[in-house]
Amino acid sequence: MTNTPTVGEKSKDLSRLLDISQTMIEKTDLSSLLGLIMEEATKTMHADRSTLYLIDRDRNELVSFIAQQSGVKEIRLPIGVGIAGYVAQSGNAVNIEDAYKNTLFNKETDIQTGYTTKTVLCVPMRNREGEIVGVLQVLNKKEGLFGEYDEWLFKTYADYAATAIENTRLHEEREKTFMSAIKALAAAIDRRDPATAGHSERVAKLSVDIGKALGLTKNELKKLNYAATLHDVGKIGVRDNVLLKPDKLTPDERNEMNRHSQYTKEILEEVYFSVEYKSIPTIAAMHHERLDGTGYPYGLKAEQLNTFGRIIAVADIFDALVSFDRPYKKAVSLTETLEIIKNEAEKNHLDPNIVKIFIEKKPYLNTFPEIESPDYHHKR
Ligand SMILES: [Fe+2]
Ligand SMILES: [Fe+2]
Repeated sequence: MTNTPTVGEKSKDLSRLLDISQTMIEKTDLSSLLGLIMEEATKTMHADRSTLYLIDRDRNELVSFIAQQSGVKEIRLPIGVGIAGYVAQSGNAVNIEDAYKNTLFNKETDIQTGYTTKTVLCVPMRNREGEIVGVLQVLNKKEGLFGEYDEWLFKTYADYAATAIENTRLHEEREKTFMSAIKALAAAIDRRDPATAGHSERVAKLSVDIGKALGLTKNELKKLNYAATLHDVGKIGVRDNVLLKPDKLTPDERNEMNRHSQYTKEILEEVYFSVEYKSIPTIAAMHHERLDGTGYPYGLKAEQLNTFGRIIAVADIFDALVSFDRPYKKAVSLTETLEIIKNEAEKNHLDPNIVKIFIEKKPYLNTFPEIESPDYHHKR
């Protein structure tokens, strides 16, 4: 029996739909968006569970992602096979009253999951161009059968979802492009000096691992990653005979070298950053500042130094000590490096809390997995 919804119920559904579409648009990563779409589909359609399939055009398959205790499990099925496969191929919605009496239904999934499917409503997800980008399915309506109104509501919902998915994909694509561009730039600058090759990438990785140990959010880690990757781009402004000098620098040369973090800020201020990343130039330029105000380029004090800058400072000094091999200054062992870093915290140069966590939780083991081995430096 199909329940015909009242006008009140319908207007509630519509305002709910608009609410959800707002939340969907705000999601910037695909996996959390897909989770939201499924969760809200179940609620909106008064169903028991839902599945979302994305179309993988390269392999002509549908892919669904199921959250399990062991992580996310991927299920693939050929387009044209089963209910979802049929919907993906034909573009028609399918509304089934009794799955076990329908030839499209594949009992295997129920057998594997111990679930009993009764009613099924499955609709295509179309983007603004009308192309099918996936399939959305709800199972077992809480009361009665899925009716014509449910079909209309679910189709509308699925089209909203498709648009949100495409937006998020574009957003992720843009971020990836941006990230690879800044990585390439940082790597090119590091490579000017063989002693610092790979430095920016290691500092970025290490900073993110420290950030994770400190419990930063996903978005904070992203910002940290950008700023850390870019922290030394100002080295582009340091002359070769200073940057590449094999011997100890004279005080004048030291001054010129030290100007690189100010250049980092100046260069990055020319780059357009969206609102959430506006502070990147300032953060990237903070890595040689000290909590007691004796650092450079600005002699900022503790209250002016944020967590991001403090993290990059620790990561930077760590990598400089364990990685840079120069004729006049050899790379330092892990034990010595940690001693130096602890000392820097005691002198109120580095953040004591970050250093404490750095030493306790050893976030450096991720970027430097073999650093605890006694012959680490000989192998390099
Ligand atoms: Fe630096
Ligand atoms: Fe650096």
